[in-house]
Amino acid sequence: MSGAFEAVKVSEHVYWVGAIDWALRDFHGYATQRGTTYNAYLILADPVILVDTVKAAFKDEMLARIASLVDPAKVRWIISNHSEMDHSGALPDVVAQLRPEKVLASKQGREALARHFHWQQPVEVVADGQEIEVGGLHLRFIETPMVHWPDSMFTMLAEDEVLFSNDAFGMHLAGSARFTDQVPPELWREEAAKYYANILMPLSSLIEKLLVRAGELKLSPRIIAPDHGPIHRRRPENIVRLYAQWTQQAPQRKAVVVHDTMWQSTARMARAIGEGLAAGGMEVHQMPLAGSHRSDVATELLEAGALLVGSPTMNNQIFPTVADTLTYLKGLRPKNLVGAAFGSYGWGGQAVGLIEAQLKEMKIDLAAEGVKLQYVPDDEGLKRCRELGEKVAAAVNERMSA
Ligand code: FEO
Repeated sequence: MSGAFEAVKVSEHVYWVGAIDWALRDFHGYATQRGTTYNAYLILADPVILVDTVKAAFKDEMLARIASLVDPAKVRWIISNHSEMDHSGALPDVVAQLRPEKVLASKQGREALARHFHWQQPVEVVADGQEIEVGGLHLRFIETPMVHWPDSMFTMLAEDEVLFSNDAFGMHLAGSARFTDQVPPELWREEAAKYYANILMPLSSLIEKLLVRAGELKLSPRIIAPDHGPIHRRRPENIVRLYAQWTQQAPQRKAVVVHDTMWQSTARMARAIGEGLAAGGMEVHQMPLAGSHRSDVATELLEAGALLVGSPTMNNQIFPTVADTLTYLKGLRPKNLVGAAFGSYGWGGQAVGLIEAQLKEMKIDLAAEGVKLQYVPDDEGLKRCRELGEKVAAAVNERMSA
């Protein structure tokens, strides 16, 4: 593969040597329509240091990018900031091939690598806050447990003011651009929000604390180099500011209406509800699940004030696509939402009650009793739907003026 793949300079001592996964379309249930990258970085110190690796299938691409710069045999240290296999999958083969002097990881990282690879490779543990001088450069390690896994950590290269932030501040976005300033801002913001919503949203309270701690540690990187997507080399404070905003999920005048339908009755209810929401001042996002992915629903909820969920009753249950989305959203723990349920039914009509129970479990405050209509909505039924939308809008408005 040598010759086709080159390293990309990030700073005086740092080069990107990762891989581009143009074809990835699913990451654990998260639709990655624009693919992703697995970012690995080379620090040209003495010895040469590799920060993270790539998914196993992309090892040769990473080694070819390293070889464009130095003989890969010169890589003597490898820092593993995170053991998830999109960053460590290539590690065992790379270690076997290059025989580095050291593999460094957090204490939990050492355990996680051992449990993944069942290997005998010694891993040197670096402590939270530890600083190491290497070849005249200074590395600092900051544990970031649960951002994204218990083992996760950041590495900071002091001289170049580069923060290797692993999963934090990243996005699933393949492309030939390596830096956010080479990508339309609305595109990278959209993908960073999607990444936050689908990977990091349940960890918001920990990220809030991490941002406070980063301030206390006076970490003010000039460049934030995440392990997915483009690198923040211009105004990295922009992504930090977005993270600070997303950890709060302050309610907004925006309602997400998620539903599926069998004979268009629940879909008609959704439209009537949308009219009531809009009349109450809400920006309405209708997300029919026949054409909306659960991970896009999560992204819309990151900056919203209300979630309304509609489902027909099928075999006394919630319709399967709606149940799928509710299960997914429950795990992501969106905050500060009001909600309501609705749906049509033939005889049992259990779906609305089942959805309301799930919304309560998600700590979403029900703005009004759900609406369920038998068979096909008539004018009176659609009026009740519109009123439900108006009530939800009123609840959001009340929260926002509180
Ligand atoms: Fe990109 Fe938690 O791995």
